[in-house]
Amino acid sequence: MQAATMPKDKSVKKTGLKKILLLYSGGLDTSCLVKWLQENYGAEVATITANLGQGGLEQARAKAIKLGVKEALIVEARDDFVNNYIGPAIKANGLYQDYYPLSTAIARYLIAKLAVECAQQIGADAVAHGCTGKGNDQVRFDIAITALDPSLIVLVPIREWNMTRDNEILYAKKHSIPVPVDIDSPFSTDENIWGRSIECGVLENPDQEPPAEIFALATPPHKAPDKPEYVELTFEKGIPVALNGKSLKLFDLITEMNKIAGRNGVGIIDMVEDRVVGLKSREVYECPAAVTIITAHKDLEKYCCTIHENEFKPTVDRKWGELAYKGLWYDPLMADLNAYIDKVNERVSGTVRVKLYKGHAQVVGRKSENGLYDHNLATYDAHHTFDQMASPGFIEIWGLPTRVAHRVNTKQTKKTGAKTRQ
Ligand code: ARG
Repeated sequence: MQAATMPKDKSVKKTGLKKILLLYSGGLDTSCLVKWLQENYGAEVATITANLGQGGLEQARAKAIKLGVKEALIVEARDDFVNNYIGPAIKANGLYQDYYPLSTAIARYLIAKLAVECAQQIGADAVAHGCTGKGNDQVRFDIAITALDPSLIVLVPIREWNMTRDNEILYAKKHSIPVPVDIDSPFSTDENIWGRSIECGVLENPDQEPPAEIFALATPPHKAPDKPEYVELTFEKGIPVALNGKSLKLFDLITEMNKIAGRNGVGIIDMVEDRVVGLKSREVYECPAAVTIITAHKDLEKYCCTIHENEFKPTVDRKWGELAYKGLWYDPLMADLNAYIDKVNERVSGTVRVKLYKGHAQVVGRKSENGLYDHNLATYDAHHTFDQMASPGFIEIWGLPTRVAHRVNTKQTKKTGAKTRQ
């Protein structure tokens, strides 16, 4: 094993930094960072931990204080997260590469915003975070923080460390940093109310099925109940407002939805995704509420929109997902796309019935005052109002380019013997 590759400089860096605000999770990486920043920068270290519904906050705070932090801040951010980050994600049917509901990604922008506000309040001149140099999160934090406050310095010590887990544990022991009890777990996880991300360990082999023990929110589908469970989700302007007829605040609705969909094995995602920094990584997610809500929202939106809107919106949604994934939440394009997405969603109100069964969330019913389905047009009963005799003229013109092309190409083929262009 390589010798402990702690930062080379043992002396205090002459950076002139007075106070560093560290984005703190309470885990091993960021706990080591508290000590390391104190030792290497000679600056006061303050910590910020945002409550996004992940739990363990008081323990994190107590740990920071034990490490000599005077300002160990916990920021209540659950409503901000659901209203200003998850809400837009629902309206955008926010997925990266068709699968990942961006649960870790969107949280980073809120944490960055809170960190900037907090740094300004407590007079910190730098913000530090515990991301590695290989992931997406460094891209999200670095861009967001420097866009929101260009005067702040962003410190990313782990990029330079190249620390192995074993060396980190040695460092922690040497500095009396409490090592978490589950330190033997080879998996790296990140969790908030929109989902849980799991990486590393055996998952680094993309051909190996994820072991059952990694899941905390979703029951393995084969162990889920043998009877389907139905839920009714009511949306107002694209946002879920009631579950099974009961009005709920978005945070509570998502919490409840996670439980119901989770026990039916819904929301497990296993994918190889393309990171911003160019490499592919195998990621496993559990996002029971996100998968169910986005499935329902997509269906209702299609029901309330025209064919033209339904053909166009996925293009906008895809771009939205890319920006959210790739660190560009605070780019003006995001606000531009949100303006369009909000406009479409003004009509997305109604109720969707979803059948949850052994890992599947299937829409089985929808109703809306804005639904564009017209029974009199669609029915095959005698009293339908669709003028079938208008169809031949429509087909004549609609098919005109295809017929002309076919005629010309066939003639050319006969003449030259060349293969017809398909
Ligand atoms: N690949 C995901 C993203 O870039 C999740 C990263 C989660 N981090 C973790 N420690 N598991 O958003």
